[in-house]
Amino acid sequence: SQPLKVALAGLGTVGGGVIKLLDENRELIERRAGRPIEVVAVTARDRTRDRGIDLSRFAWVDDATTLADAQDIDVVVELIGGSDGPALTLARETLAAGKPFVTANKAMIAHHGIELAGLAEQQGVALKYEAAVAGGIPVIKGLREGAAANEIAQVFGILNGTCNYILTEMEEKGSDFADVLAEAQRLGYAEADPSFDIDGVDAAHKLAILASLAFGTAVDFKNVAITGIRHVIAADIKEAAALGFRIRLVGQGDADVKGLFQRVHPCLVPLSHPLAHVSGSLNAVVAHGNFVGRLFFQGRGAGEGPTASAVVADLIDIARGETGPAFAMPVASLARAEPAPADDR
Ligand code: HSE
Repeated sequence: SQPLKVALAGLGTVGGGVIKLLDENRELIERRAGRPIEVVAVTARDRTRDRGIDLSRFAWVDDATTLADAQDIDVVVELIGGSDGPALTLARETLAAGKPFVTANKAMIAHHGIELAGLAEQQGVALKYEAAVAGGIPVIKGLREGAAANEIAQVFGILNGTCNYILTEMEEKGSDFADVLAEAQRLGYAEADPSFDIDGVDAAHKLAILASLAFGTAVDFKNVAITGIRHVIAADIKEAAALGFRIRLVGQGDADVKGLFQRVHPCLVPLSHPLAHVSGSLNAVVAHGNFVGRLFFQGRGAGEGPTASAVVADLIDIARGETGPAFAMPVASLARAEPAPADDR
């Protein structure tokens, strides 16, 4: 059968992981997808950097936007990052050209996901972003598909691997904040601009996406109240521990009669709660459904293998011909997110 021909835009940690995963699990992926999935073209800012992978077998494209119209490309995978700029142009042009689009870009989905989903629907193609939230945990599919029949009133979790790694290492090893952040960067967990991690913005992008999926509302990033972990010091962690708590950066969304309540902030989590035991770069998401009860998703939320795994899962969906809605339902049916009054937030 015809291979699914893929263009990869962006060859950082995740892009390299996608190539390795498609190589190493080629046969099993082909069996599950029903046809081979082949990277045919790549594009990245730096052509010369040694990524430890052989790129000579792919066509190198200098201008990413030409991928949208290229005859021999069936699907574009965007791993460039950034809410606007080249990633957004590529997304708009690819979908407008009637091609499916896969991305790990939480900032772009948080800001422009609804517009892009509308474009995808008009064209009858898929917009997929499993890798954008909680790395390798299939939480987009879990909420959109697994919990599709449920009313969900609350969704919360640990959504940033870098912060969780910093908080864990500070507690367990007494390490210094800046040293652990540097290590998270080395391990490929941190954002290009790590202030997005430590100031809670990355977790807020992900929370806004999860809230939309859980509550069936349009993504509403601007109304997330955000506090990061920049000011958490070793003494805070010690005192929390002495009282039986751990500090975790938690993103939480509640939908009640007052409206939608979205916040990201450092929380004191009692040791008796499962979130207190989510350590290192792990992420976790909890949702309460009215028929399914409590769902608890946990797994690796950042890094090459987990994030590549989510990207390739989306490619398998596309190879199988899936074109379902990007969010909880078609864009026209999503409710408007009504933020809870500021006094309550
Ligand atoms: N910087 C992000 C994190 C990467 O640390 O969770 C995964 O989205």
